[in-house]
Amino acid sequence: MPAQKTILRALAGEVLPTPPVWMMRQAGRYLPEYRATREEAGDFLSLCYNSDLATEVTLQPIRRYGFDAAILFADILLLPQALGADLWFVTGEGPRLSTITDRAGLERLKPVSEIHETLSPIYQTVRNLAGALPKDVTLIGFAGAPWTVATYMIAGRGTPDQGPAHALKAENKEVFEGIIARLTDGTIEYLSAQIEAGAEVAKLFDSWAGSLKGEDFENYAVAPARRIISELKARHPEIPVIAFPREAGDNYMGFHEKTGADCVAVDDSVSAEWAAEHVQKDGCVQGNLKSSHMVTGGEALVRETRAIVEAFRDGPHIFNLGHGITPDADPANVQLMIDTVRETVRETVRG
Ligand code: CP3
Repeated sequence: MPAQKTILRALAGEVLPTPPVWMMRQAGRYLPEYRATREEAGDFLSLCYNSDLATEVTLQPIRRYGFDAAILFADILLLPQALGADLWFVTGEGPRLSTITDRAGLERLKPVSEIHETLSPIYQTVRNLAGALPKDVTLIGFAGAPWTVATYMIAGRGTPDQGPAHALKAENKEVFEGIIARLTDGTIEYLSAQIEAGAEVAKLFDSWAGSLKGEDFENYAVAPARRIISELKARHPEIPVIAFPREAGDNYMGFHEKTGADCVAVDDSVSAEWAAEHVQKDGCVQGNLKSSHMVTGGEALVRETRAIVEAFRDGPHIFNLGHGITPDADPANVQLMIDTVRETVRETVRG
């Protein structure tokens, strides 16, 4: 039977007259209702682990805008926390973790079989959402890709150039690869549990893939994604996977085939025309409006949105931003983007 939800149809390779649309970080600080619920929860991590409130914030952008997909409200850094890392968020700065820099640190990590103890409230959120979402809305589960998560575990925070992770890779490859291997196994179990709780799509966020070059890209972006996707497909053949090797540049080419991903999400450092020619030829693509348009709005937003829809119109496409929406975005611009996506194609088809 053909899949009915628009996102699942696009992921199956169908070319739709109107691309389905959702937005990275669609539940976030640019929305007053998110800020109110977060206040009620106390802090960001308490919100992630409170299944009722996490369900509520996941649903907020669906109610307000009618997006075609909802993404589970959680964070890529919950997996290292479940493996035993300390994790906290410093307001206005971002995440902090206890660091791993040697074999002793690697050996202190918990076995993968123990992650569910910490992560069970996340699975409860997925179950709540599977029961609460409108019938035409697709539920996306997600995890961070091993390299990106490792960069935070090794540095203990976000870094502009992922320097500490690159240094460990050069100086103690065995420990570095041990961290990647543990995260790869943990990600398989984490995503499988989300799927068993009701997630219909899995997305793998490799936000720092762009800092891996040459063989490193093959070994630490491609190979872990391939292992995760092949294991997920073995367990759950019907579940499509979106891979997002952000800022991969030329390495976006062939990523569908090398990893088995059903869809490759592209950021806005490549043009939609380029991605249509070099990436969409291999399968569904997702992207790639600059998120700054959600701050500035106006004619430029409309023009760029139309140009992206046009560029991707001959192949399977899910409309999204090139990266997450920022807290200073204007909620009205999100509506303008959605209206433009949904109208542009109708006009084009008519004319
Ligand atoms: O997209 C969604 O709406 C789903 C939820 C989601 C969050 N984080 C919620 C969040 C998802 C999919 C993520 C992924 C994530 N988390 C990534 C990969 C994607 C990307 O943005 O590159 C990364 C690198 C993280 C780690 C992380 N979480 C950082 C670096 C930060 C601080 C920066 C920031 O935006 O404040 C977070 C916090 C975070 N994760 C927020 C949200 C809504 C903001 C928290 C708050 O309310 O203060």
